[in-house]
Amino acid sequence: MNYTVVLPAAGSGKRMKADKNKLLLELFGKPIFIYTLEVFEQDPQCEAIWLAVKADERAIIERYVNDYGITKVKGYAQGGMERQDSVRACLEAVPPCGVVLVHDAARPFIASRVIAELVNEAEKTGAAIAAVPVKDTIKKAAGGIITETVDRAQLWMIQTPQAFRYELLLNAAQAAHKEGFLGTDEAMLVERMGLPVHIVESTYENVKMTTPEDLIYGKAILESRKQ
Ligand code: C5P
Repeated sequence: MNYTVVLPAAGSGKRMKADKNKLLLELFGKPIFIYTLEVFEQDPQCEAIWLAVKADERAIIERYVNDYGITKVKGYAQGGMERQDSVRACLEAVPPCGVVLVHDAARPFIASRVIAELVNEAEKTGAAIAAVPVKDTIKKAAGGIITETVDRAQLWMIQTPQAFRYELLLNAAQAAHKEGFLGTDEAMLVERMGLPVHIVESTYENVKMTTPEDLIYGKAILESRKQ
């Protein structure tokens, strides 16, 4: 099944402690978001890539896209204040398609196997998201005192890509916007409509480049792939 991917890329460098959009930071001389784009450029099932970008960064991002020979970028939408706004702007801009994948441009190490499973599952059931089992013990606390140790067997760390039938996600995103609901991922918007969201087990390599030490992990992952 072919799919369209929507990549929110309109964030900042705040948690990365960078003075520019962290996606423009380089790992071994190549901007982070180009690694992400290359995964989809090379996936034969990916029909089109759409990017949500800040208005004043569009020119530099477009230049990189051209310089690195990324041919599947079919359009850009203007990013918003929140990631959810950026994703919605993109969803409203893309031509309707069967399955749409939403993926953080800041996660360059997504495995092709996970993308394929997500697309299949979303086609079958409507909604599927990438996740890995929680490794650490998780506790709740109030005022610095533990109130509960949560059963880890039921906990997942949620990543992107998140894959959906296009109409389903568009409706959920527009309903959330209308009702002033702000979620932390796309799945939440679908869950609140009472629809099931399926998990596809992903890899721990699919880290989001968020804080400075993530760049160290990123370089280590790239090194390990050279061997
Ligand atoms: O900040 P964080 O790393 O969680 O953002 C995840 C992804 O969403 C990044 O690729 C970032 O560029 C994007 N984003 C966006 N619009 C925003 C905030 C984040 O497109 N307003």
